[in-house]
Amino acid sequence: MNLAGKKIIIGITASIAAYKIPFVIRLFKKAGAEVQVILTPAAHDFVTPVTLSTLSERPVLTEFFDKSDGSWSSHIDLGMWADLILVAPVSANTMAKMATGIADNLLLTTLLSARCPVFFAPAMDLDMFKHPTTIENIKTLESYGYTQIKPVEGELASGLKGCGRMEEPEIISKIIADFFFASKILKGKNILITAGPTHESIDPVRYIGNHSSGKMGYALSQVMADMGAHVELVSGPSNEIISHKNINITKVTSANDMYDACLKYFPTSEITIMSAAVADFTPEHVPTEKIKKSNKLVNISLKPTVDIISSLTKKKKNNQIIVGFALETNDAEENAIQKLNNKNLDLIVLNSLEEEGAGFGHDTNKVTIFNKNGEKVETNLKSKIDIAHDIASEIIKYSNF
Ligand code: CTP
Repeated sequence: MNLAGKKIIIGITASIAAYKIPFVIRLFKKAGAEVQVILTPAAHDFVTPVTLSTLSERPVLTEFFDKSDGSWSSHIDLGMWADLILVAPVSANTMAKMATGIADNLLLTTLLSARCPVFFAPAMDLDMFKHPTTIENIKTLESYGYTQIKPVEGELASGLKGCGRMEEPEIISKIIADFFFASKILKGKNILITAGPTHESIDPVRYIGNHSSGKMGYALSQVMADMGAHVELVSGPSNEIISHKNINITKVTSANDMYDACLKYFPTSEITIMSAAVADFTPEHVPTEKIKKSNKLVNISLKPTVDIISSLTKKKKNNQIIVGFALETNDAEENAIQKLNNKNLDLIVLNSLEEEGAGFGHDTNKVTIFNKNGEKVETNLKSKIDIAHDIASEIIKYSNF
């Protein structure tokens, strides 16, 4: 979980579930976030400010004015400071006030002046949660763009069993971390992604190609563009279609075309991901006319293509990350790690060719990701979009964005 540099306000209201919030604060702080706690006046009876301020390493706020020195807590400044506000636990009373714009405490005024995303995690008795006013209030809050972290079934403070238990701290913090991760974590980053096969002409009508469909590279482009990156997708011949305001696509045919396009976009790319299956050889001579059929043995002499990724790593600056893919039919891990080192890559994604449903042409994949620090992450078989999320997450972790 990475929340480095994120500023989070946690608003705590009067509910027994407030005892779980110190754990949420610890998880946020451990993940690198700055945390500011605002307690509603009634919440003081449920959790002590001393615990909260010690864990958050900031004074806990409740009042508009500090009567001891006359200073005041500006709800406007707080609202502007926060990257996200989490109201947890949120009582039925506070939800009703949030839904109707009542602003009789610091948390409510901060919510009214905030421009950042707001999450709320209800906690109450099952009948209160089922009451039509609560249901209406939740709908209203969701219509403002607030996100509910739904309560779960379980034993409630009343001793009754049902829905109304606030989600566990680990789940709440994961939801927030996933939100940050998924929203704009790559905003402002330029990413070069290659996809698909290359076709090497034998004559004007024939080529040497491979079975790559381009699905993995297109999925990566989609996911990283959704995270706010500007993606230059350099695609070999592929049937995939993509349309996204953050993606510019350059269609190429041969390894050499792909090389030229990569040279153009590489200097301004913070991350380069070579998921294309680039041909290693290309015909030495390409006749201008079609080779006619004959009964004689035909020899086509092949010369090596340029190793695009290796040539890029030679030009690599310190702030650039290069990710390769490996396709192996034997000694897969050993060969992938060797490629990571020989090609001087930051990360390498090993495609699993043996797995049913993984690799060329499938909508699913299973990969193992290795990085230069010797770390290894193995995924399950899942959709290429989910795999793209895992790859993006490993790249982001590695690069510390
Ligand atoms: N690659 C490249 N240029 C090439 C060949 C491969 O940039 N001419 C890149 C691929 O896009 C991939 C990585 O190098 O990111 C590894 O590709 P792979 O085909 O697994 O390995 P090769 O280097 O081609 O070696 P071999 O085919 O012998 O395994």
